[in-house]
Amino acid sequence: MSTSSAKKVLITGASSGIGASLARRYAQNGAQVWVAARRKDRLDALVNEIEQQQGKATAVVLDVQQADDLEEVIGALDDEVGGFDVVVANAGVGGGGRTASSIRYADAKRVFEINFMGAIATLLAAQQKMMARGRGQLVAVSSLAGEIALPVALDYGATKAGFSYFVRGMRHDLKSKGIGVTLILPGFVKSEMTDKNKFPMPFIITADQAAHIMWRGIEKNTAVVRFPLAYRLAFLFAGLVPSSLVGWAALRTAPPPPDA
Ligand SMILES: NC(=O)c1ccc[n+]([C@@H]2O[C@H](COP(=O)([O-])OP(=O)(O)OC[C@H]3O[C@@H](n4cnc5c(N)ncnc54)[C@H](OP(=O)(O)O)[C@@H]3O)[C@@H](O)[C@H]2O)c1
Repeated sequence: MSTSSAKKVLITGASSGIGASLARRYAQNGAQVWVAARRKDRLDALVNEIEQQQGKATAVVLDVQQADDLEEVIGALDDEVGGFDVVVANAGVGGGGRTASSIRYADAKRVFEINFMGAIATLLAAQQKMMARGRGQLVAVSSLAGEIALPVALDYGATKAGFSYFVRGMRHDLKSKGIGVTLILPGFVKSEMTDKNKFPMPFIITADQAAHIMWRGIEKNTAVVRFPLAYRLAFLFAGLVPSSLVGWAALRTAPPPPDA
């Protein structure tokens, strides 16, 4: 097992799925992890599991939907631990596959508050502290869903498209300030989020597989980490397919649930 160059890592959305697997990966590789989310019982169980393997972990109960508070909360935590080396904005919710005819403003607002406002507030709070130190690594868990406009998951896709745009822009500016920025674009990963999906999810991988790929990419300060490989190849050709055909296929294979 390789040793992580990062010593102190904060991961939001670490009570399940990709975030929990990434926390285990970092802990196995010798880093101390702070695992953040809303469900304290799940965080405590993860901390316990990591400690049983001789790792170091701390639970942080945090709701990223309260985005206005994050500068203060994450800033204070950063001071308390003596500075995070890596901060991963991973917390997110699915959109239930909503289309134009099924989406309601209140649902979309919540998804934006968590997946976009909460995510950028997490990164900006960490960035302030890292800029003062002149080092650090910001990691954004976005999605391949934001790379191509589909008529399903309108709100989810839009939050991820916006988040990816924001993070791509951050990387250029922050490089000169000693801060790395890695954008993660997963395809389908098995988790509580995707367990709810009723449609086929080609090339789905486990959260542990995703975490391994992510950890390697973050360690190398890779600009954009896309996976799995089959989607990387598919996206090379996606621009050649008419959008009307892509939209038709998406609605047929991933129809929204009636109550979405
Ligand atoms: N699974 C996929 O196929 C896939 C593909 C592309 C991108 N992603 C992205 O990967 C990230 C992780 O998703 P996952 O698949 O691992 O799903 P998951 O198992 O449902 O995990 C989502 C995590 O986000 C946390 N979270 C949700 N709302 C939160 C809030 N308001 N404040 C703090 N934490 C919150 C959840 O914890 P609590 O409920 O305890 O707060 C949970 O730990 C998400 O950003 C997702 O969009 C997933």
